[in-house]
Amino acid sequence: MRKVHSATQPTDSLAGGLGGAGQSGNGRDILPGNLVPTAYNVWLTPSLVSFTFDGTVAIDVACIESTNVVVLNSKNLTIHKAEVTVGDVTQFASDISFNTDKEQVTFTFADQIPAGSSASVYVEFTGIHNEQMAGFYKSSYTDEAGNKKNLVATQFEATDCRQAFPSYDEPALKATFECTLVVPEELTALNNMPEVATTFFTNTDGKKVKEVKFARTPLMSTYLVAFVVGDLESIETVATPKSPENAEPITIRLFTVKGLVSQGTFALDVAARTHQFFSEYFNEAFPLPKSDLVAIPDFGAGAMENWGLVTYRNVALLCEAENTTASAKKEIAYTVAHELAHQWFGNLVTMSWWNDLWLNEGFATFVGWLAVDFLFPEWEVWTNFINAEFNQALQLDGLRSSHPIDVDVKSAAEVGEIFDAISYSKGASVIRMLNGYLGRDVFMNGVRSYLQEFKYKNTVTADLWRHLSASSGKDISTLMHGWTKETGYPLITVESQTYDESANTLTVTLSQSRFLSAGGLTPEEDTVTWWVPVTASTHLTGKTGVSKHVLHDKAGTITFPYNISENAFWKLNFGAEGLYRVKYSDEQVKQISHTLEVRTETFSVGDRILFLSDAMALTNAGLGSITTVLNLIKALFNETNFNVLESIANTIQGLLSSFYLESETVLEGIKALGRSVFSPKVATLGYEFSESDDYFTQQIRGLAISLADRCSDVNVQAELASRFGDFVGGKITALHPEIRTVAFRSVLSTATPETADARFSAVFAVYMDPATQAEAKDEALRVLGAIRSSEHIDKLLAMTFDPEIIRSQDMYAPIAGLATSNPDPAIIRPLLREWFRNNWDKIYAKFESGFGLLGYIFSASFSTSVGEEVVKEIEDWASGAGLDEEAVARRVKETAGIRRRIDQGLESIKSKTSLVARERETLVAYFT
Ligand code: BES
Ligand code: ZN
Repeated sequence: MRKVHSATQPTDSLAGGLGGAGQSGNGRDILPGNLVPTAYNVWLTPSLVSFTFDGTVAIDVACIESTNVVVLNSKNLTIHKAEVTVGDVTQFASDISFNTDKEQVTFTFADQIPAGSSASVYVEFTGIHNEQMAGFYKSSYTDEAGNKKNLVATQFEATDCRQAFPSYDEPALKATFECTLVVPEELTALNNMPEVATTFFTNTDGKKVKEVKFARTPLMSTYLVAFVVGDLESIETVATPKSPENAEPITIRLFTVKGLVSQGTFALDVAARTHQFFSEYFNEAFPLPKSDLVAIPDFGAGAMENWGLVTYRNVALLCEAENTTASAKKEIAYTVAHELAHQWFGNLVTMSWWNDLWLNEGFATFVGWLAVDFLFPEWEVWTNFINAEFNQALQLDGLRSSHPIDVDVKSAAEVGEIFDAISYSKGASVIRMLNGYLGRDVFMNGVRSYLQEFKYKNTVTADLWRHLSASSGKDISTLMHGWTKETGYPLITVESQTYDESANTLTVTLSQSRFLSAGGLTPEEDTVTWWVPVTASTHLTGKTGVSKHVLHDKAGTITFPYNISENAFWKLNFGAEGLYRVKYSDEQVKQISHTLEVRTETFSVGDRILFLSDAMALTNAGLGSITTVLNLIKALFNETNFNVLESIANTIQGLLSSFYLESETVLEGIKALGRSVFSPKVATLGYEFSESDDYFTQQIRGLAISLADRCSDVNVQAELASRFGDFVGGKITALHPEIRTVAFRSVLSTATPETADARFSAVFAVYMDPATQAEAKDEALRVLGAIRSSEHIDKLLAMTFDPEIIRSQDMYAPIAGLATSNPDPAIIRPLLREWFRNNWDKIYAKFESGFGLLGYIFSASFSTSVGEEVVKEIEDWASGAGLDEEAVARRVKETAGIRRRIDQGLESIKSKTSLVARERETLVAYFT
C-alpha cells in the first residue's frame, strides 16, 4: 500500500541536533522550537465498549527560549486540563485554543517558563478509537465461535500520534516514552517495550482490570510509538545473532487474534533469522529487549515498523506454510524483512524531516531484498527486483508529473503523498546502483559507521553520503546529486562504435538525455546530467565478467575488450543495476534479438528482462517500434526463466490493456502471440503440482496457465472449468493454491447467463469462508470483477460499501479486479468511471485519512482507460466543471491529497492514447 506525493522545492538540510522544531522559514507546519521534549510519561485507558479512551501525558521539556505558551500537536482529542510545572511551581493553563488545520493545541500560562529551565507539561484528555485505521483505532473481527469482537491498535506514521496523546509529533523531536495501559484483565496489552509491572484491581464501574506498566523506551520518534490491546494468542522463538559481540538473544513473539496463530510460524522463523542477518550486517545489536509481530484485522498500510512492535495486515504476515503460493511466502518474507530493516534504519537512526522519507523507505526496501536473498538464495530475488521495483521506478519516474526523491513536505496532509514508487522503488534502485558500484563491503562499512554516528539521532541524506564518501574515498554527494535532487533518469543512446582490430577493443560513443515515457523531450526538459555507472558485457565476458565505466557528461566514450567473431555481441547495463534505459542502433537490436532467439542463455536473466522492458518503453515514447517488442517476445519463445516469463506476461497484458478498444484482428493477434509463448508450457507442465516442484516450477506453471487463460486458450479454459467443478464439488485438491485464483478468474470471465450466478456465488463463498487464508481471500475478492453479467457487477459494486462484507482496507480489490480482470474492458471501464464519479462523496468520506487507499481507488477506476475523452472526463471531474462555486472549492480541496496521482493518471492515459494511435496500423499489418 503505497502513496503518491506532491512536490515542491527540495531542501538540503534541516536544523541538526534538536531537529525541525522552530525552523519555520521553509514554510513547514512545525511546532515552535522554544520547548523541546526529553521524556514522556503516557497513561491510557482504552475502552472496547465505549470506544473512547481517557489519558494523561506528562512531558519533560527543556526550555530553549523563555515563553508562556506551550504548543503541542493534537487531533480529535478533548483536552480537560493542562498544567506546567517548573521546579515546585505548578500553573494551570489560562487559555486552551486549537488550530484544527495545523492539528495543534496552544496552552497559555500567566507566567513565563524561563530559558534554560526544565519543565513538565501535564495534560488530561479523552480520545476516540476511530474506524479510520489511524491514531489509536478500533478494529473489528468475528472470532472462531462466530462472535463479533474488537481490538484496539495504533498506527501513528506519519502524523497520527497526535490522535492518541498531545505530543511533539515530529520525527526529529526524539524522547523517551514510559507508557501505562489500563485494560480488562483478560486482554493482552502490548507496547514497544516489555511489561515491567502489572497491578490488578476493580475499577469504578466494578470491572476487573489490570494496569500494565511498560519499560521506558530509548530515545525515539513519536511516529514509532505503538499499542495493541485485544484477545490475542501468540507463539515465540529466540533469535541468536552471532555479532556484534554485545548482541544478546532476543525473544521474538508473533500475535494474532485467537485461532490464527498457527499461520504465523513461517513469518516467525523468517523474523528470527532476519534479526540475525541485520544484527550482523549493520554490526549493531538490536537495541530493544524484545521484538513482536502482530497481525491486525483492519490495517490501512501493509505493515508498520513500530519499534519492537511491528504491526501487519493479516495477508502480509499469515499463511498456512504448507498450503499456500510461492509468491505469498515471498511477500511475507519480504514484508517482515523490510519492517525489521527499519528497526535500525529508520528507528535507531531517523530522518530529520519527511522530505528525507526515502532514506527510510528506499533503504529498507533495498536491504529488505538483501535479507530475503540471504535467507532464500534459491528464490533469486534480485532478478525479481527488476520486475517488482526497478521497472516500477522507471515507469513512474518517466512521467513529467514525477518528483525528485528528495522532496519537501510542509504539512501532515502532504506527508502521506510521498509514500510512493519514487521513495520506495526509485530509492531502492538508486541505492542498489550505488551498492553495485562501490561494492558490498565498502557500502556496508559506510552504512555501519553512519549508524554508529547517528544512533538515537536524526539525519539528512547528506549524512549518509558523507559516510559512504569516507568508506569509498569518492565524492558520493556529487555523484548522487542528479539521482536524488532531480526528477527522472537518463536514456543512454548508443551513437556510434569503432572496432580497433589491432587492440581487439571496441570504442562506443554514448550520450545521455532525460527519458520521458510519453516522449517529446524539449531542450528545457533536458538540463540534468546524471553520473551514470555503465557496465558493458560481451560474448567474451559472458555472464560474469563485465567492464565498468562511468558516463558523467552529456556524451562520452567507453572502450572495452572485443573481437569480431560469429557469435559476437555486446550490450550495456549488465543485470539492470544502472537506473537508465538504453537505445541501441536498429542494427544492434536485430543482432541482439537474433542472439536471444538462438542462444537465449548467452544473456543473463536481467539482460533478457531489460531488453524487453526497454523495447516497450522506447515504443511508448515513440523512439522505437512495436514490431521490435513483438519480435523480441517471439525470440523468447523458448524462455524458461520465471522472471523473464513474468516480464513477457506483463508486456502482453499491458498491450491487451492498452489496445482494448481496437479491432478483433489486433486483440486476437496479441492473444495468439501470448498463447504461442504460454500454451506450450501448460502442455509440458500440466495442472498437477508435486511436492518435488521447486519454487520456480510452481510459479511458471501458475503463470503459464494464467496467461493462456487471459489469451483465451479454450483448452486451458475448459480444463480449468472442469477442475473448478470438482473443486466446488468438494475435491479441494483439484485446484492447487497456485492456480486457484486463475481458475476462479477463468470461470467467471467465461460464464454464460446460465452459469454466471452459480460461479459467482461459489467464488464469493470462498471469499466469505472464515477458513480461507488471507491471501486467497484477497484474490477471490479481486477476481470477482471478472464476471461479465451486469447484474453481478452491480451486486459487486454495491457490496464494496458494505462493511459487513468488505473491510475498508480491502475496498480497492474488487475495483482493481473489475478494471484489470474483466474480459470486457470496453464495457466495464466506462462503467467504473461513472461509478467513481457518482460515488465520490461516499468514497472520499471513507478514505479521507487513509494510506493512499483513495489514490488507489482513483487509479483503479480511471487510469486503465484510454482515450482523449477520458482525459477530459477526469479533468472536468477533478476541477468540478459545471458545479457551483462552493462545490468547485470542495472538489478541489477534497482532491488535493491525490492531486499528483490524478496528474500522473492523466499523463499515462494521454501517453497510452498516443501509443495506440501511433501503432494501430503497424499492429493491424503485423497480425494480418
Ligand atoms: N513505514 C511504512 C508503513 C507506512 C506506509 C506508514 C504509509 C504510513 C504510511 C512501512 O515500513 C512500509 O513500507 N510498509 C509497506 C510494506 C512494505 C513491505 C513495503 C506498505 O505498507 O505498503
Ligand atoms: Zn517501510
